[in-house]
Amino acid sequence: MGPSGSGKSTLLNCICGIEAFDRGEISIAGKPLSALSQRQLENLRRNSIGYVFQSFNLLPTLTAFENIEFPAQLAGVDRDERMDRVMHLLESVGLKKRAGHLPDALSGGERQRVALARALVHRPVLVLADEPTGSLDTENGRQVLELIESLSKEHRTSVLLVTHDHASTRICDRVISMTDGALVS
Ligand SMILES: Nc1ncnc2c1ncn2[C@@H]1O[C@H](COP(=O)(O)OP(=O)(O)O)[C@@H](O)[C@H]1O
Ligand SMILES: [Mg+2]
Repeated sequence: MGPSGSGKSTLLNCICGIEAFDRGEISIAGKPLSALSQRQLENLRRNSIGYVFQSFNLLPTLTAFENIEFPAQLAGVDRDERMDRVMHLLESVGLKKRAGHLPDALSGGERQRVALARALVHRPVLVLADEPTGSLDTENGRQVLELIESLSKEHRTSVLLVTHDHASTRICDRVISMTDGALVS
């Protein structure tokens, strides 16, 4: 948690290996990032990390179903297993009836619920969520937070959520503050 400009997105970019850092070390599932090659970092992002963005970042030409399926395809999950996982996740986020819709035909809350399902389909160990309620009204934001809380428990996935919104910390087990590019206690 920290104000705009405090370095939250930068920290998430360092954690998933798309931004380099010049001091310290980041380990994911026991693996220090500095010991990994570019190829290994790509594999880590593809297999072990899920992402939720403020602006949803769904692929506009893919349906809700296909958007959710995509990371599982990249991770090499076979077709039958992908179908099972996507259907289960669509049900979990309350969007079974919207499976065939393109993102344009979905509301903001619905798009973010698709994005949340997409972040979990390849069974990552860690989900990085950057201001996931930042583009939503209070009620849709509340729904998305509740889903993050319940689905992270069901899928036994850690979620690192960054926000400037105090209300979002309600679902967090631990809250760490950031100011001017540094963690503060
Ligand atoms: N630890 C840091 N060291 C150097 N630059 C930083 C650090 N943290 C943040 N920055 C810089 O500060 C700016 C804002 O950071 P950003 O991650 O976008 O903030 P936030 O997501 O909290 O709004 C960026 O230009 C980023 O490069
Ligand atoms: Mg940011």
